[in-house]
Amino acid sequence: MVAFGAIVVFAFYTPFACSDDYYQMSSNTNVNEAMQFLREYDREASGMCYRVTMSQWKFVTNITEYNHRRMLEELSLSSKFDRLSWRKAAVYDISRVPDPQARRQLMKIVRSSRAVLPEDKYLEPFDPHVPKPYPQPEIQSNHQYLLTNEQQYEQNEDSTEYPNYCDMQLDPEISRILAHSRIESELLYVWKSFRDKTGPKLKNRFMRYVQLANQAAFRASYDDPSFRSSVEEIYNQVAPLYKQLFTYVRRKLVQRYGGSVRSDGPIPAHLLGECKN
Ligand SMILES: *[C@@H]1O[C@H](CO)[C@@H](O)[C@H](O)[C@H]1NC(C)=O
Ligand SMILES: *[C@@H]1O[C@H](CO)[C@@H](O)[C@H](O)[C@H]1NC(C)=O
Repeated sequence: MVAFGAIVVFAFYTPFACSDDYYQMSSNTNVNEAMQFLREYDREASGMCYRVTMSQWKFVTNITEYNHRRMLEELSLSSKFDRLSWRKAAVYDISRVPDPQARRQLMKIVRSSRAVLPEDKYLEPFDPHVPKPYPQPEIQSNHQYLLTNEQQYEQNEDSTEYPNYCDMQLDPEISRILAHSRIESELLYVWKSFRDKTGPKLKNRFMRYVQLANQAAFRASYDDPSFRSSVEEIYNQVAPLYKQLFTYVRRKLVQRYGGSVRSDGPIPAHLLGECKN
């Protein structure tokens, strides 16, 4: 039960990506047109962002097949919009745009990571015909597990009159238990069952996603030519605080759960209060 950090996909500076050729394939030097494009982009991108966020919110607060499909449709439209914008932005000779902020915006659209992938790969994560990516875990159990709100947890912690819960979904049941339960056996059971149910189904899709994200990242580029060492420097600045926070949390968990947490070891994932870690 070791806590794994999320796999972070880091993209590093590549000479290809930052070469000037990358931008000078563009021949349209009409600055007014470029500015007009940016204004339109701004308006449309805001609307797109709003629709995607709404559809995601509807899905996470009301998990139905219909809401899932609507969310995937919006994500797919948003992908197509990004790619179209990338094509439109790439026709302008960015070096001719005098306003530095506008230049930056255009470059950002041109560089927007996934858009540099070929069309089929770019849309792959959102293809509604590929099997459902969202796992629908259902933990079935004959055990008696507590599922109530926080106050009731406090009151009932030692009670044996727990209701029975089968068919738990991630949201809200599993999330709620992981966030509020303080009973270690329950936390371990729920965390492990959730992983067992979802991990194997997601594995291949996740590996493919990482592969595509890395391909895109290697083609994208960054303003900062020493991106790698800048990231390392920031990490080194934050690391001492992170370590202190980590040891503080671990100490509190040792006080709460005793021997299950080693005072010099990693923090068990099921005790962290959530399942997205
Ligand atoms: C949940 O979503 C469905 C559509 O799948 C909708 O008909 C229903 O009204 C929604 N329920 C709530 C409480 O919003
Ligand atoms: C839970 O299930 C057990 C047997 O599996 C049963 O004896 C018990 O009465 C059930 N409790 C509730 C609250 O339904």
